[in-house]
Amino acid sequence: MERCILITGGAGFIGSHVVRHFVKTYPNYRIINVDKLTYAGNLMNLQDIENYPNYRFYKADIVDESQMHEIFEKEQPDSIIHLAAESHVDRSLMNPTAFAQTKVMGTLTLLNLARHFWKKKDKKHLFYHISTDEVYGSLPLDEGFFDEASPYQPRSPYAASKAASDHFVRAYFHSYGLPIIISNCCNNYGPYQFPEKLIPLMILNLIEEKPLPVYGEGKNVRDWLWVLDHVKAIDLIFHRGKIGETYCIGARNEWHNIDLVRLLCDLVDEILQRPKGTGRKWIRFVKDRPGHDLRYAINPEKIEKELQWKPTMPFEEGLRRTIQWYIENRTWVEKVRSGEYLHYYEQQYGERLSE
Ligand code: NAD
Ligand code: TYD
Repeated sequence: MERCILITGGAGFIGSHVVRHFVKTYPNYRIINVDKLTYAGNLMNLQDIENYPNYRFYKADIVDESQMHEIFEKEQPDSIIHLAAESHVDRSLMNPTAFAQTKVMGTLTLLNLARHFWKKKDKKHLFYHISTDEVYGSLPLDEGFFDEASPYQPRSPYAASKAASDHFVRAYFHSYGLPIIISNCCNNYGPYQFPEKLIPLMILNLIEEKPLPVYGEGKNVRDWLWVLDHVKAIDLIFHRGKIGETYCIGARNEWHNIDLVRLLCDLVDEILQRPKGTGRKWIRFVKDRPGHDLRYAINPEKIEKELQWKPTMPFEEGLRRTIQWYIENRTWVEKVRSGEYLHYYEQQYGERLSE
């Protein structure tokens, strides 16, 4: 095998797309997926590749140094793509400590192990940290963009813990010469996203004719990227990114929440052949999220110019595919709702640590 990549958080939304992509595209790479399987980790996301010979799963907590040491020793990964995290802003408001645990302490565990195991210099070594544009704070509604030089101004516990992990990753580059890269991406959407996030939540509520809770007046702006376009960016950065650098990934696709929710209403009406206007009747403006960041928007010039990356999925087409996916994958939805997905690991893997 040419390479061995340890991917953390590979049972989550973005992580499962990254794992599938690398397992299928690079049969000569061994892909090691390490995931604690929190409520957001779902091995059903990877059913189609679980028997590939170049794929192996470990249920493990990245905070747990001895568990992680064992995996490093056994697999000897030459690189890491680090996605494991608590990822939902609303949950971070309720339990900030869990966010600091995973993102700060967990990232530190991985950094220390990479330092320990990668003492001999090797061009393959890379600690690639997947981060978010939320570390940069909030922009005014009608001007400005984040880029690689933007100051860090995190405002939610989610963003603060993510920012702290970014700082540690960079500190290990400057202090110890650990080969690192960070990318900070805008909001992702697509199949397999846990239905606590805006787009899948709205789609499922629309299908089930339930209220659509829009925070505040719905004027907040997010830049939305098709998850597989993010995966392409990750692949490019992994193979061709410069050590020590940061890459901002954005779709140039800004939407006010309310406009996006209205578009989803109209698309679901059309796909389910309901009378026009049916979905919009379910929109409810609810109490705003505390400290709700007004706008995120990325200037992606660096990755566009240096790595010739551009998103390829037109937004409406991506939304249609996502809606169709949630309609066609009712079993996935039902198992997520009932909690049955949490038992998939035991059913498939028993109590074994690996394989
Ligand atoms: P997700 O919540 O769907 O998945 C996170 C995964 O991490 C889950 O499988 C979970 O079980 C695992 N995990 C959590 N704590 C763990 C621990 N202690 N040890 C091992 N595994 C653990 O999240 P996502 O939306 O796929 O995001 C993945 C990464 O990408 C995160 O780091 C997030 O900050 C970043 N990101 C997400 C977005 C987005 O729009 N979703 C945008 C930019 C960056
Ligand atoms: P979310 O998907 O939670 O991502 P993030 O907060 O990381 O950007 O939310 C996207 C936007 O949608 C954000 O401005 C909050 C808003 N929102 C709602 O209005 N209603 C909801 O039920 C949710 C989950 C989010």
